[in-house]
Amino acid sequence: MRSITVKAPSSTANLGPGFDVFGLAVDAFFDEITLTKKKSGISIITEDDVPTNPENNTAGLVVKNMIKKFKIKDGIEIKIKKGVPPGFGMGSSAASASATAVAFDKLYGLKLDKNTLVEFAGSGEKASAGSIHFDNVAASVLGGFVIVRTNPLNIIKIKPPKNLRMCIAIPKLEVPKMKTKISRGVIPKKVNLIDSVRNLSNAAAIVVGFMEKNPELIGNSIKDVIVEPARQHMIPGFVKVKENALRAGALGVTISGAGPSVIAFSKNSADLKRISSAMSRGFANVNIKCQTVICKPSKGAIVIKK
Ligand code: HSE
Repeated sequence: MRSITVKAPSSTANLGPGFDVFGLAVDAFFDEITLTKKKSGISIITEDDVPTNPENNTAGLVVKNMIKKFKIKDGIEIKIKKGVPPGFGMGSSAASASATAVAFDKLYGLKLDKNTLVEFAGSGEKASAGSIHFDNVAASVLGGFVIVRTNPLNIIKIKPPKNLRMCIAIPKLEVPKMKTKISRGVIPKKVNLIDSVRNLSNAAAIVVGFMEKNPELIGNSIKDVIVEPARQHMIPGFVKVKENALRAGALGVTISGAGPSVIAFSKNSADLKRISSAMSRGFANVNIKCQTVICKPSKGAIVIKK
């Protein structure tokens, strides 16, 4: 095989209290990565606004790390087609990194296990987040709902309820280039025990909600007293957007990943349109336009051409 194309989904990280631990693949957007063997070097071809120096590009870093680890002698051309908008908390860099790790694995017949694939995909996140975290990449590689355990890396995947639906409001804001790094900088370094107990109880309930396929339990456990309060000032209108969505019937609402998108959970397709317009009105209240996307949990990265 000389060339392979893999598509990987967008994802939402944290789901409220599961900071850096929970991820959910969502079928809102997809990135496509084509890897083609060549004589030497790593090059990037894209029409999208992403860095083309492999050192600063998530996909570039994944290829570089995998070439080194598996002592591959070829060069690789990486073609990137972005579908996931970068910088909005939808796991954009993770989608590219995940598609790349899965494509590389298949191109060289490595048959890596899921934890190793996620580890390589996570190594690409460093280019955009400044630090490695695995919630988005685990979701994007494996699909469904994931729980990330570290040291050693161990991903637990749970199939989401079939009727779980989400509405994501993506505000039209200028986002800084290293947004994830910046929004990680505002989180408290230390947490008080009472807050940590509250988040832990809700996180545990979310896991049970996924296991029992219970969207109500998932939604009403999406309560975060640590990270959301620290970050919400970075999203103009957040309080109103959340309040509006809950009033319109959302089961739970929180920041998607590091933001600024806001995600609302529901199980009722009829509610979703109402929730979408309620969220748009929330942003309109502070004169911000937003795009709303109604979506459902997604499968992980898949080969679409070889
Ligand atoms: N868990 C990460 C964060 C996801 O919230 O910073 C960012 O992509």
